[in-house]
Amino acid sequence: VVNILVLAVVGYLLGSINSAILVSKLTMGYDIRTKGSGNAGLTNAYRCMGGGRTLLVLVGDVAKAAVALYVGGMLMGAMGKLIVGAFVILGHVFPLYFGFKGGKGVLVGATMIAMFDWRIILILLVVFLILVGTTKWVSLGSVTAAALFPFLTYFFYRDIPMFVLTVAMAAAVIYMHRSNIVRILHGEENKLTLHSSRK
Ligand code: G3P
Repeated sequence: VVNILVLAVVGYLLGSINSAILVSKLTMGYDIRTKGSGNAGLTNAYRCMGGGRTLLVLVGDVAKAAVALYVGGMLMGAMGKLIVGAFVILGHVFPLYFGFKGGKGVLVGATMIAMFDWRIILILLVVFLILVGTTKWVSLGSVTAAALFPFLTYFFYRDIPMFVLTVAMAAAVIYMHRSNIVRILHGEENKLTLHSSRK
């Protein structure tokens, strides 16, 4: 129980360090949450700030998740990675330091999966790239990958607590994409292009 508490605190505090908000405030003089889709994540960083700064966001968010995952793995093995990962996603989506409004948890979730099981990330990455490549809708790839994650985890681990935890994470990520899903259904989702400022 102590380990779980430690992982919750470490995960949430690290997850709350939102790179897209930091990079936009420090280098662009605005808050990314006021631009593009309003999301403080990698896709919107690219949309609004271009490649170089997106790379910074990528490195920052992957690094924080990786550090947390390392601690999780050390304390509690595979399950520890999923537990700390869930709290990194929570912190990233509801950041303590930025008024509880952050990103949608896809990149940190992907980092978690990459450090959890390479087979699962490989399958999800292929699905994600095919969908985004053909539609240019990053959110469609994100939502589909999130939905598949619990089932792939169950397929490889046959573990009910793991399944429940991964369903909760997937549900949270999908819920964060609710406005994207409405736009997808109407065929109006933003395509991945630079400097598009459509809402
Ligand atoms: O990772 C977030 C992505 O799936 C959608 O981002 O900015 O288009 O809402 P955005």
